[in-house]
Amino acid sequence: MSIKFIEDSKIFKLDSKTSTYIFGVFEGNYLVHYYYGAPIPDTNVDELRVRPGFASFCPDSPSARVFNFSPDVTPLEYSTFGAGDFRLSAFAVKNSEGNKVTDLRYVSHKITKGKKALPGLPALYVNNEDESDTLEVVTEDKVTGAKVTLIYTVFNNYGAITRSVKVENASDKPFYIDTVHSLCVDMPGADYEMMDLYGRWVKERSLDRYPLHHGIQSIKSKRGSSSHNHNPFTALVSKGANEEYGECYGFNLVYSSNFSIDVEVDGFRSTRLVMGINPEGFSWYLAPGEEFYSPEAVMVYTNEGIGEMSRIFHRLYANNLIRGKWKKAKRPLLINNWEGTGMNFDHDKLVSFAKHAKDIGLEMLVMDDGWFGKRDHDNSSLGDWYVAEYKLQKGLSGLIKEVNDCDLKFGIWFEPEMISPDSDIYRAHPDWCLHTKGRDKSIARTQYVIDYSRKEVRDHIYSMMYDVLSNNNIDYVKWDFNRNLTEVSCAELPPEKQGEVFHRFVLGTYEIMDRLTTDFPHILLENCSGGGGRFDPGMLYYSPQIWTSDNTDPIERLTIQYGTSLCYPASTMGAHVSANRRTGYETKMNVALWGSFGYELDPDKLTPEEKAEIKDQIALYHKYYDVIHYGDLYRLITPFENEFHVAWEFVSEDKNEALVTVVEIKRVYDEFFMLRLKGLDPEKYYEIEETGDTFSGAYLMNAGLNLTHRPHGDGVSYRVHLISKD
Ligand code: GLA
Repeated sequence: MSIKFIEDSKIFKLDSKTSTYIFGVFEGNYLVHYYYGAPIPDTNVDELRVRPGFASFCPDSPSARVFNFSPDVTPLEYSTFGAGDFRLSAFAVKNSEGNKVTDLRYVSHKITKGKKALPGLPALYVNNEDESDTLEVVTEDKVTGAKVTLIYTVFNNYGAITRSVKVENASDKPFYIDTVHSLCVDMPGADYEMMDLYGRWVKERSLDRYPLHHGIQSIKSKRGSSSHNHNPFTALVSKGANEEYGECYGFNLVYSSNFSIDVEVDGFRSTRLVMGINPEGFSWYLAPGEEFYSPEAVMVYTNEGIGEMSRIFHRLYANNLIRGKWKKAKRPLLINNWEGTGMNFDHDKLVSFAKHAKDIGLEMLVMDDGWFGKRDHDNSSLGDWYVAEYKLQKGLSGLIKEVNDCDLKFGIWFEPEMISPDSDIYRAHPDWCLHTKGRDKSIARTQYVIDYSRKEVRDHIYSMMYDVLSNNNIDYVKWDFNRNLTEVSCAELPPEKQGEVFHRFVLGTYEIMDRLTTDFPHILLENCSGGGGRFDPGMLYYSPQIWTSDNTDPIERLTIQYGTSLCYPASTMGAHVSANRRTGYETKMNVALWGSFGYELDPDKLTPEEKAEIKDQIALYHKYYDVIHYGDLYRLITPFENEFHVAWEFVSEDKNEALVTVVEIKRVYDEFFMLRLKGLDPEKYYEIEETGDTFSGAYLMNAGLNLTHRPHGDGVSYRVHLISKD
């Protein structure tokens, strides 16, 4: 078992492949955190219990005077508000008397094989019970009757642990859950640098990195989605850690709505990180006997650098988060009409699209926004999910038949959580959108947000989608979400439950995604939110790929994809070649190949030369599919630190194949350019396919690949394909 309870010292020890995590039951039944880091044996762990006890001005625990214990100077496993710990609180309830003092103490625990699902929430899963062990530690606050179970699962084959929290009301009075973080981690010292992914529309997931300072540093969303602006991911890395060296603690929340990650460094230079649902705008009324589950948090530790941290996330998500047919099946090579036509299309245009697409070797046509209601512009019809026959003159089935006759699969776009004021559905049900009594409704992209916290509303929307999907031969759905939530109240809920609406909304979304993927298991669901505004593990549980950004410029995509790869695998990043701007098709392809590849252009407008070039690209896409989708990523040169070159490499699991891609952002003159590769087998010999030269893995990783005389120029790029000779 990867989890043990050492009776004598009352210590829980969780061992994963690359980490050990230790906490225990201290005097007074406090749960105290002892260690998180590289693997250590069971011997000597007792020594970890030796603590300072108390410090001036840090109150003693009232129940623990005899053993000198101040919660404020003790690393706590799950901190609470108001009972002596003044640092960040992981948990607080407001009781029926209106106060928020909360104090959780250990009651019992159990260790089991495997992992249970989280009701109503996306979460990592196990393929068989031997992959993981689970620890559930029950704690309680005697005064409020809050029973809180801390749930830990160790993924034996990875340096990964998941955590979540179950709250039950075991009293006879209701209380409010005010704060419920999914994890709390106390670490000694503060010599870490924090990495996070920030951005905005068309510039998602840029990398930020900064030393921790005293006080609190935070990243958050209160937009009703994980957002373009911050991703629910952070890493604390040792000073100077790079792709290959250094300690890295990565944290990612499996959640698609308001999150918060706070890191506090206190006066004793110890660090606490809490991560979970953003407490701002959240309050959950829990009646006696009811229970509540927090979203799941993922923790990854390695002392082999940021690159290895990313690869652990990638393997874990590819094997234990992505589900269904498309986890392993090769994804169809698609063309999406959005950048090619916008909403300006009809039956003939799309059929012509399909014919040209087939001609160049594509496998699926995705009809984007504009096929329903009276949708010619973004100011109408969201929610009217029936076909616009004035555009698709032979109906949806007539169009799909002709597309299928070209031997192409068919995909379709929906934006199921949105409603246009100019729509039949809004005219019939003006109260179905999120709104707050007495206030004007904020509008964005001429649309409102449907109140997905209401079951009858969700059911109505899903029944329309179900009709479309069950009556037509559809293989793919793009689920879009093009605005953030405002005036978040629910017309149906009583006042004490209004603080639940953000969370209920995302639970509603998860429920519909679950129904869709259960009813139509063959459908490939791709998420999107104005590009990558909801790129998070919660969404990946339902959709194996997410449209990474509306920005398809290959040079700007470099930072977006580089940042995204910090914790999300290549197979999850929708990446398309489009007709836009500065580079040629070669670089567009080389960059888009770092993801779930496709095209987003009007094939009718391609010249014969461009068509021929794209045909060649498609052959390369098939050739490299496996090494990119199932291989390991090594980031070689980062766009965040190098203004001239960006380079990355995929290596197959057996280390027999590698694909290196280099993009020259700006023309480089007279440089001796040796690129040191990574992840190869030093003993193996590799042939460079393009030149026929052979080098040992040791040479390529230590001396490097000499690229001095490769092509140069602004936006020029090339690939180097290596095959082992052994
Ligand atoms: C969003 C998406 C685009 C496209 C449009 C359609 O912006 O990111 O890819 O689907 O909506 O309105």
